[in-house]
Amino acid sequence: MQVAESIAQMKRLRSELAEPLGFVPTMGYLHEGHIALVRRAHEENASVAASIFVNPTQFGPAEDFEDYPRDTKSDLAMLEEAGTDVVFMPTVADMYPQGFSSWVEVGKLTERLEGASRPTHFRGVTTVCTKLFNIVKPTRAYFGQKDAQQALVIKKMVADLNMNLEIVVCPTVREPDGLAMSSRHVYLRPEQRQAAVSLYEAIKFAEELWSQGERNAEHLRQVVTDHIRQQPLAEIEYVSIADIRTLEELETITDSALLSLVVRFGKTRLLDNTILQ
Ligand code: PAF
Repeated sequence: MQVAESIAQMKRLRSELAEPLGFVPTMGYLHEGHIALVRRAHEENASVAASIFVNPTQFGPAEDFEDYPRDTKSDLAMLEEAGTDVVFMPTVADMYPQGFSSWVEVGKLTERLEGASRPTHFRGVTTVCTKLFNIVKPTRAYFGQKDAQQALVIKKMVADLNMNLEIVVCPTVREPDGLAMSSRHVYLRPEQRQAAVSLYEAIKFAEELWSQGERNAEHLRQVVTDHIRQQPLAEIEYVSIADIRTLEELETITDSALLSLVVRFGKTRLLDNTILQ
Protein backbone atom coordinates (compact mmCIF):
# COMPACT_ATOMS: atom_id res chain seq x y z
CA MET A 1 0.00 0.00 0.00
CA GLN A 2 1.31 3.45 -0.93
CA VAL A 3 0.56 6.70 0.87
CA ALA A 4 0.25 9.98 -1.04
CA GLU A 5 0.71 13.03 1.15
CA SER A 6 0.20 15.64 -1.55
CA ILE A 7 -2.13 16.20 -4.50
CA ALA A 8 0.80 15.96 -6.93
CA GLN A 9 1.89 12.62 -5.48
CA MET A 10 -1.67 11.25 -5.59
CA LYS A 11 -1.99 12.22 -9.25
CA ARG A 12 1.29 10.43 -10.03
CA LEU A 13 0.23 7.26 -8.20
CA ARG A 14 -3.22 7.39 -9.80
CA SER A 15 -1.74 6.96 -13.25
CA GLU A 16 -0.26 3.60 -12.16
CA LEU A 17 -3.49 2.16 -10.69
CA ALA A 18 -5.41 -0.53 -12.58
CA GLU A 19 -8.90 0.26 -13.91
CA PRO A 20 -11.60 0.28 -12.65
CA LEU A 21 -10.69 2.18 -9.48
CA GLY A 22 -12.92 2.12 -6.37
CA PHE A 23 -12.56 5.07 -3.96
CA VAL A 24 -13.54 5.42 -0.30
CA PRO A 25 -13.35 9.00 1.02
CA THR A 26 -13.05 9.19 4.83
CA MET A 27 -12.13 11.55 7.63
CA GLY A 28 -10.14 8.80 9.35
CA TYR A 29 -10.55 7.27 12.81
CA LEU A 30 -11.80 4.26 10.90
CA HIS A 31 -14.18 1.59 12.12
CA GLU A 32 -15.80 -1.50 10.59
CA GLY A 33 -18.28 0.71 8.71
CA HIS A 34 -15.46 2.27 6.69
CA ILE A 35 -13.73 -1.07 6.21
CA ALA A 36 -16.95 -2.59 4.82
CA LEU A 37 -16.84 0.16 2.14
CA VAL A 38 -13.20 -0.67 1.33
CA ARG A 39 -14.02 -4.39 1.08
CA ARG A 40 -16.94 -3.68 -1.25
CA ALA A 41 -14.70 -1.44 -3.37
CA HIS A 42 -12.13 -4.24 -3.46
CA GLU A 43 -14.75 -6.76 -4.66
CA GLU A 44 -16.02 -4.52 -7.44
CA ASN A 45 -12.81 -2.91 -8.77
CA ALA A 46 -9.30 -3.81 -9.90
CA SER A 47 -7.75 -1.26 -7.52
CA VAL A 48 -8.82 0.69 -4.43
CA ALA A 49 -7.91 4.15 -3.14
CA ALA A 50 -9.04 5.68 0.16
CA SER A 51 -8.58 9.18 1.51
CA ILE A 52 -8.08 10.36 5.06
CA PHE A 53 -8.78 14.07 5.33
CA VAL A 54 -10.55 15.84 8.19
CA ASN A 55 -12.21 18.46 6.03
CA PRO A 56 -12.38 21.81 7.87
CA THR A 57 -14.97 23.33 5.53
CA GLN A 58 -17.72 20.92 6.56
CA PHE A 59 -17.47 21.85 10.27
CA GLY A 60 -19.32 24.87 11.61
CA PRO A 61 -17.42 27.40 13.80
CA ALA A 62 -18.77 25.84 17.02
CA GLU A 63 -18.23 22.24 15.89
CA ASP A 64 -15.52 19.69 16.70
CA PHE A 65 -12.97 20.17 13.86
CA GLU A 66 -9.99 20.61 16.22
CA ASP A 67 -11.09 17.76 18.50
CA TYR A 68 -12.19 15.36 15.76
CA PRO A 69 -10.58 12.02 16.71
CA ARG A 70 -7.48 11.06 14.71
CA ASP A 71 -5.39 7.86 14.69
CA THR A 72 -3.43 7.62 11.45
CA LYS A 73 -1.34 4.62 12.47
CA SER A 74 -4.37 2.44 13.16
CA ASP A 75 -6.20 3.80 10.06
CA LEU A 76 -3.31 2.86 7.76
CA ALA A 77 -3.04 -0.63 9.28
CA MET A 78 -6.80 -1.21 8.79
CA LEU A 79 -6.74 0.09 5.21
CA GLU A 80 -3.75 -2.06 4.31
CA GLU A 81 -5.35 -5.16 5.80
CA ALA A 82 -8.58 -4.49 3.83
CA GLY A 83 -6.67 -4.38 0.52
CA THR A 84 -6.27 -0.65 -0.20
CA ASP A 85 -3.69 0.17 -2.89
CA VAL A 86 -3.26 3.90 -2.27
CA VAL A 87 -4.18 6.15 0.66
CA PHE A 88 -4.46 9.87 -0.07
CA MET A 89 -3.72 12.04 2.97
CA PRO A 90 -3.45 15.66 1.84
CA THR A 91 -2.81 18.60 4.13
CA VAL A 92 -5.34 21.38 4.66
CA ALA A 93 -2.93 23.84 3.01
CA ASP A 94 -2.70 21.66 -0.11
CA MET A 95 -6.49 21.25 -0.39
CA TYR A 96 -7.38 24.84 0.54
CA PRO A 97 -4.46 27.08 -0.38
CA GLN A 98 -4.49 30.83 0.32
CA GLY A 99 -7.10 32.47 -1.88
CA PHE A 100 -9.29 29.38 -2.31
CA SER A 101 -12.76 30.70 -3.22
CA SER A 102 -14.77 28.16 -5.27
CA TRP A 103 -17.66 26.16 -3.83
CA VAL A 104 -20.02 23.46 -5.04
CA GLU A 105 -23.60 23.83 -3.77
CA VAL A 106 -26.40 21.38 -4.46
CA GLY A 107 -29.40 23.54 -3.44
CA LYS A 108 -32.72 22.46 -1.93
CA LEU A 109 -31.78 18.96 -0.75
CA THR A 110 -29.06 20.45 1.43
CA GLU A 111 -31.38 22.88 3.22
CA ARG A 112 -33.36 20.20 5.05
CA LEU A 113 -32.52 17.88 7.99
CA GLU A 114 -28.73 18.07 8.59
CA GLY A 115 -28.55 21.20 6.44
CA ALA A 116 -31.11 22.98 8.62
CA SER A 117 -29.03 22.32 11.77
CA ARG A 118 -25.63 22.78 10.05
CA PRO A 119 -26.10 25.44 7.35
CA THR A 120 -22.59 25.29 5.78
CA HIS A 121 -22.00 21.56 6.24
CA PHE A 122 -23.05 20.22 2.83
CA ARG A 123 -21.28 22.97 0.93
CA GLY A 124 -18.07 21.72 2.58
CA VAL A 125 -18.87 18.08 1.83
CA THR A 126 -19.77 18.62 -1.83
CA THR A 127 -16.77 20.88 -2.41
CA VAL A 128 -14.27 18.47 -0.87
CA CYS A 129 -15.82 15.47 -2.64
CA THR A 130 -15.61 17.29 -5.98
CA LYS A 131 -11.95 18.05 -5.32
CA LEU A 132 -11.27 14.45 -4.23
CA PHE A 133 -13.07 13.05 -7.30
CA ASN A 134 -11.08 15.38 -9.59
CA ILE A 135 -7.77 14.36 -8.02
CA VAL A 136 -8.40 10.61 -7.58
CA LYS A 137 -10.55 10.12 -10.71
CA PRO A 138 -12.35 7.01 -9.42
CA THR A 139 -14.65 4.78 -11.45
CA ARG A 140 -16.85 4.32 -8.36
CA ALA A 141 -16.97 6.03 -4.96
CA TYR A 142 -18.41 4.33 -1.88
CA PHE A 143 -20.55 5.98 0.81
CA GLY A 144 -22.44 4.61 3.83
CA GLN A 145 -26.23 4.65 4.13
CA LYS A 146 -25.78 5.87 7.72
CA ASP A 147 -25.25 9.37 6.32
CA ALA A 148 -28.33 9.00 4.13
CA GLN A 149 -28.67 12.69 3.27
CA GLN A 150 -24.98 12.97 2.40
CA ALA A 151 -25.30 9.99 0.02
CA LEU A 152 -28.37 11.55 -1.60
CA VAL A 153 -26.68 14.95 -1.96
CA ILE A 154 -23.54 13.42 -3.51
CA LYS A 155 -25.63 11.39 -5.97
CA LYS A 156 -27.55 14.53 -6.96
CA MET A 157 -24.32 16.50 -7.43
CA VAL A 158 -22.81 13.74 -9.60
CA ALA A 159 -25.97 13.56 -11.73
CA ASP A 160 -26.49 17.35 -12.01
CA LEU A 161 -22.86 18.08 -12.88
CA ASN A 162 -22.38 15.04 -15.16
CA MET A 163 -19.46 13.81 -13.10
CA ASN A 164 -17.87 10.76 -14.59
CA LEU A 165 -18.22 8.22 -11.75
CA GLU A 166 -20.76 5.96 -10.09
CA ILE A 167 -21.83 6.47 -6.46
CA VAL A 168 -22.36 3.23 -4.53
CA VAL A 169 -24.26 3.42 -1.24
CA CYS A 170 -23.59 0.56 1.19
CA PRO A 171 -25.66 -0.64 4.20
CA THR A 172 -25.08 0.78 7.68
CA VAL A 173 -22.74 -1.33 9.81
CA ARG A 174 -23.91 -1.71 13.41
CA GLU A 175 -22.40 -2.62 16.78
CA PRO A 176 -23.67 -5.94 18.24
CA ASP A 177 -26.42 -4.05 20.17
CA GLY A 178 -27.58 -2.27 17.00
CA LEU A 179 -25.97 1.17 17.44
CA ALA A 180 -24.82 2.44 14.02
CA MET A 181 -21.01 2.67 13.96
CA SER A 182 -19.52 6.17 14.12
CA SER A 183 -16.10 7.68 14.78
CA ARG A 184 -17.77 10.03 17.27
CA HIS A 185 -18.68 7.20 19.70
CA VAL A 186 -15.31 7.80 21.28
CA TYR A 187 -16.83 10.94 22.87
CA LEU A 188 -19.62 9.01 24.66
CA ARG A 189 -19.42 8.31 28.39
CA PRO A 190 -20.34 4.68 29.27
CA GLU A 191 -23.85 5.63 30.44
CA GLN A 192 -24.43 7.67 27.27
CA ARG A 193 -23.17 4.79 25.12
CA GLN A 194 -25.63 2.47 26.87
CA ALA A 195 -28.53 4.90 26.37
CA ALA A 196 -27.58 5.43 22.70
CA VAL A 197 -28.99 2.03 21.75
CA SER A 198 -32.44 3.67 22.08
CA LEU A 199 -32.01 5.11 18.55
CA TYR A 200 -31.87 1.63 17.06
CA GLU A 201 -34.67 0.35 19.30
CA ALA A 202 -36.89 3.24 18.20
CA ILE A 203 -36.13 2.53 14.54
CA LYS A 204 -37.00 -1.12 15.05
CA PHE A 205 -40.36 -0.13 16.65
CA ALA A 206 -41.16 2.09 13.68
CA GLU A 207 -40.18 -0.66 11.21
CA GLU A 208 -42.44 -3.09 13.08
CA LEU A 209 -45.41 -0.69 12.94
CA TRP A 210 -44.67 0.00 9.28
CA SER A 211 -44.72 -3.74 8.50
CA GLN A 212 -48.08 -3.99 10.30
CA GLY A 213 -49.48 -1.37 7.89
CA GLU A 214 -48.99 1.97 9.72
CA ARG A 215 -48.74 4.74 7.10
CA ASN A 216 -49.40 7.81 9.27
CA ALA A 217 -46.03 9.58 9.37
CA GLU A 218 -46.87 11.69 12.43
CA HIS A 219 -47.76 8.60 14.43
CA LEU A 220 -44.47 6.95 13.48
CA ARG A 221 -42.51 10.12 14.40
CA GLN A 222 -44.31 10.14 17.76
CA VAL A 223 -43.51 6.49 18.50
CA VAL A 224 -39.81 7.09 17.79
CA THR A 225 -39.78 10.31 19.86
CA ASP A 226 -41.60 8.72 22.82
CA HIS A 227 -39.22 5.78 22.92
CA ILE A 228 -36.07 7.91 22.88
CA ARG A 229 -37.50 10.35 25.44
CA GLN A 230 -37.51 7.54 27.98
CA GLN A 231 -33.74 8.02 28.12
CA PRO A 232 -33.07 11.08 30.29
CA LEU A 233 -29.58 11.53 28.74
CA ALA A 234 -30.97 11.81 25.21
CA GLU A 235 -31.84 15.17 23.62
CA ILE A 236 -33.71 14.74 20.36
CA GLU A 237 -32.72 17.20 17.63
CA TYR A 238 -35.09 15.86 15.00
CA VAL A 239 -37.11 12.84 13.97
CA SER A 240 -38.02 13.02 10.31
CA ILE A 241 -40.12 10.93 7.98
CA ALA A 242 -39.46 12.33 4.56
CA ASP A 243 -39.76 11.62 0.87
CA ILE A 244 -36.80 9.49 -0.09
CA ARG A 245 -35.91 11.66 -3.12
CA THR A 246 -36.76 15.23 -2.06
CA LEU A 247 -36.49 14.91 1.75
CA GLU A 248 -39.79 16.81 2.13
CA GLU A 249 -41.60 15.83 5.31
CA LEU A 250 -44.56 13.49 4.73
CA GLU A 251 -47.99 13.28 6.35
CA THR A 252 -48.92 9.94 4.84
CA ILE A 253 -46.46 7.45 3.41
CA THR A 254 -47.65 6.15 0.07
CA ASP A 255 -44.80 3.98 -1.21
CA SER A 256 -41.60 4.55 0.78
CA ALA A 257 -39.98 7.01 3.17
CA LEU A 258 -36.68 7.82 4.83
CA LEU A 259 -37.00 7.74 8.61
CA SER A 260 -34.01 9.65 9.99
CA LEU A 261 -33.15 11.01 13.38
CA VAL A 262 -30.48 12.95 15.23
CA VAL A 263 -30.11 12.67 18.97
CA ARG A 264 -27.58 14.43 21.17
CA PHE A 265 -25.89 12.80 24.15
CA GLY A 266 -24.04 15.67 25.80
CA LYS A 267 -21.99 17.26 22.99
CA THR A 268 -22.16 14.17 20.76
CA ARG A 269 -24.66 14.12 17.90
CA LEU A 270 -25.70 10.64 16.80
CA LEU A 271 -27.46 9.99 13.48
CA ASP A 272 -29.38 6.96 12.34
CA ASN A 273 -31.95 6.12 9.70
CA THR A 274 -33.87 3.43 7.92
CA ILE A 275 -35.77 3.25 4.67
CA LEU A 276 -39.39 2.25 5.13
CA GLN A 277 -40.40 0.49 1.95
O1 PAF B 1 -18.61 11.04 5.48
C1 PAF B 1 -17.48 11.55 5.67
O2 PAF B 1 -16.62 11.00 6.36
C2 PAF B 1 -17.17 12.90 5.04
O3 PAF B 1 -18.30 13.71 4.99
C3 PAF B 1 -16.52 12.80 3.65
C4 PAF B 1 -17.47 12.15 2.64
C5 PAF B 1 -15.25 11.97 3.73
C6 PAF B 1 -16.17 14.18 3.13
O4 PAF B 1 -15.27 14.83 3.97
